[in-house]
Amino acid sequence: MAYTFTFEPNNAPKQKPDSNKLGFGQYFTDHMFIADYNLQHGWHEGRIVPYAPLLMDPASMVLHYSQTIFEGLKAYKTTDGKVVIFRPERNIERLNISGVRMGIPPIDEEFALQAVMQLVNTDKDWIPTGEENSLYIRPFIIATDPFLGVRPSDTYKFIVILSPVGAYYPEGINPIKIYVESEYVRAVRGGVGFTKTGGNYAASLKAQMESKDKGYTQVLWLDGCEKKYIEEVGSMNVFFKINGEVITPSLEGSILAGVTRNSVMTLMKDWGMQVTERQISIEEVYEAYQNGTLEEMFGTGTAAVISPVGELNWDGKGIVINNGKTGDLSHKLYDTITKMQRGLVEDSYNWLTTVE
Ligand code: COI
Repeated sequence: MAYTFTFEPNNAPKQKPDSNKLGFGQYFTDHMFIADYNLQHGWHEGRIVPYAPLLMDPASMVLHYSQTIFEGLKAYKTTDGKVVIFRPERNIERLNISGVRMGIPPIDEEFALQAVMQLVNTDKDWIPTGEENSLYIRPFIIATDPFLGVRPSDTYKFIVILSPVGAYYPEGINPIKIYVESEYVRAVRGGVGFTKTGGNYAASLKAQMESKDKGYTQVLWLDGCEKKYIEEVGSMNVFFKINGEVITPSLEGSILAGVTRNSVMTLMKDWGMQVTERQISIEEVYEAYQNGTLEEMFGTGTAAVISPVGELNWDGKGIVINNGKTGDLSHKLYDTITKMQRGLVEDSYNWLTTVE
C-alpha cells in the first residue's frame, strides 16, 4: 500500500555543508517527517515538514522516564545516480522489536518505511558524495503524554531526521584503540540492552569519558554479571579472527542485533569462512593474543561501517592486534559493503532498496 503524507516545503533552505568536513551527526537537512500516535487514531497524520525545533510540554514523559527508541540507517547515491538505502526493512523491524520491550505501540512497518523513503526522496540533494560519506537516517519515537506518574504514555511522536555524515570515528578506516571496561556495565540479560533506546547510550557516557581521558576512542563492554564475556562497543558489534575462525558474541539479550553484523556474517559464510556466534571471554582473547593466534578484531555498525581495532587495554594489559594495522579481512569487508552501497559491485543479496 502506498501511503501519502502531507508535504510542507521549506521556503528557507539551508546552505549544504562542505562534504570534506562533515564529521558525524552535526548537520541536518531541510525537512523532517512527523506522525502522531494516540489511542483513538493509532499512528496518523504523517507529514513532511520543514526541519525545526519541536514544541514540547516540559512534562512530556520521554523527558523524565526515557520512553524512547531509535534507529540508524543510511542512504547513498550510486555511481549511476540512483538513491538507495541499505536494508531499511531490517531497521524498521528492529524499531518495533525495541518498541515492544519499551512499551511503545508498534508502527505499521510499511508506513514507517514509506516515511523514510519519501523523506529521503525529498532531501536527496543532501546525500553527500565522497567514499566515506552518506546520508544518515535517524527515525525515532518519543513518549509525549504530559504526566509525571510512571506508566507507558498514551501518546507518541514518530519522527525521522536526516544528517549528511562522514566517518563516525575520526580514525575513519584506520584502527581504533579500545578500553575494555571492567568497572561499569552497560546492560544485563532481561534488561533493555538489545533495544535501541536512549538510556543504553546514557549509561555508557561516564565510561566513555573516562576511557577518552586515558586515550581510547571507545569502550568494550563485558557482560553485566561476571564481567567476563565480551558484549559490544555500544556503537558497534565486535568480531575476532582467531586462528582463521571468526567469532562474534552471540545474541543473549543484552547486545544489539546489528544489521551490519548480520550482513558481514552472511558475506563471510559465503566466502567459505568459519563464522561462529558464541560467548567469548576477554580472557580467551588475551590468551589468543599471547599465543599469537589473534589475527584481527573489528567492529560493525551502520554508523561505524567496518571499524578495525588496533589495540585493546584490559586492566592495564595491552593487546596489540595485527601490529595496530587494518587487517585483510576488515579491508575486504569494508570494500565489499561500501562498494555494494555505491552500486560498484553487484547487490547479489538484494540489500539495496531504491528510492524513487
Ligand atoms: C548506528 O550505527 O546507527 C548507531 O545507532 C550507533 C550510534 C551512532 C548510536
